[in-house]
Amino acid sequence: MTDTSFAQPHKQPEGFRDRSARALVKFMRFFADAFFSKRYGHRAVVLETVAAVPGMVGGALQHLRALRRMESDRGWIRVLIDEAENERMHLMTFIEIAKPTWLERLLILLIRQDEAKHRDVNHQFANELASGRS
Ligand SMILES: [Fe+2]
Repeated sequence: MTDTSFAQPHKQPEGFRDRSARALVKFMRFFADAFFSKRYGHRAVVLETVAAVPGMVGGALQHLRALRRMESDRGWIRVLIDEAENERMHLMTFIEIAKPTWLERLLILLIRQDEAKHRDVNHQFANELASGRS
């Protein structure tokens, strides 16, 4: 028998936003499960591709902010870019393990492109809200 006493239970969704987010994740997961099935290396390639983006975008934004405000970044640029590089190294490892086909590589690029676009729009919107320019 397996000891699962350390396992954390899932947070129960509260309100419309929680339920919508959970439903969306389950919906998207259905397609990932159907496409990847038991090919865990391929699934990891997709996840690592997406994971490598936020650190680089965040590092670039912190860099531009520090230049614009002429103030210290308090070390955040290096931390965020190191994180992006770390995730890129994970990607290189899983590329060697999974050896994705050109079609799978194309799909990964499309997913990454879409994710980066959304992150860019979200940052722009957040910056405009914070500066009161909206
Ligand atoms: Fe990773």
